[in-house]
Amino acid sequence: MNKDTHQELWNAVDGYITERLAPADEALTAALEASEAAGLPAINVAPNQGKLLHLLALLQGARTVLEIGTLGGYSTIWLARALPEGGRLISLEYDRAHAEVARVNLARAGLDKIAEVRTGAALDTLPRVAAEPGAGPFDLIFIDADKQNNPRYVEWALKLSRPGSLIIVDNAVRGGALVDADNQDPAIVGTRQMYDLVAREPRLSATAVQTVGTKGYDGLLLARVVA
Ligand code: SAH
Ligand code: DHB
Ligand code: MG
Repeated sequence: MNKDTHQELWNAVDGYITERLAPADEALTAALEASEAAGLPAINVAPNQGKLLHLLALLQGARTVLEIGTLGGYSTIWLARALPEGGRLISLEYDRAHAEVARVNLARAGLDKIAEVRTGAALDTLPRVAAEPGAGPFDLIFIDADKQNNPRYVEWALKLSRPGSLIIVDNAVRGGALVDADNQDPAIVGTRQMYDLVAREPRLSATAVQTVGTKGYDGLLLARVVA
């Protein structure tokens, strides 16, 4: 099979899975429609990946979630829906227009009491979150922003976590570009540095899995804070 045939098959299988196990509802559909209408790039997690984030947050018993990279709040909705009453999610987004779309999407989903979007470059807003009494530690941290800063984001995630916290990094394989040590793309360089950091960090126990689907060939890295 050629590459296009593979992608078509992956799309069909994602459709099969999503239809049965991660069907859209009004709020999720409206979030994607509003994102598209506002011209946001369609780089949100796929529905079955959103459901995976949701299940991981539930398995984690998460009450507090930190997300880096909100876009239109699609992954935010999946994560926030896993939180119990009194739970709290903070999502960091650089782009004001993205953040505004996300806020409307979260309010429409009835999650605006739980989930809050903060605007600014995450490397500027993370220290503010850290300085805020009661903001951390977070039970789950989802990293999905500018990939060149992935090592910095994992360092912040460590500062803002506790033993038992789960750190998830999206786009951890990037079509296999990950294994190209000569690749100069800052996103790949940053992601490779992130793996090296995770690998030598004794406070983390981690793995990564390759994924295929509507988002192509990519992967997720999962790390548990063990100490
Ligand atoms: N998590 C979202 C997708 C995020 S896409 C979902 O799955 O639905 C990546 C987002 O990171 C974009 O909205 C982009 O504007 C944002 N971003 C890029 N650089 C950033 C930075 N330095 N700080 C915070 N957000 C950033
Ligand atoms: C792309 C996909 C993502 O999940 C992301 O966070 C950023 C970019 C992409 O396909 O370009
Ligand atoms: Mg992503």
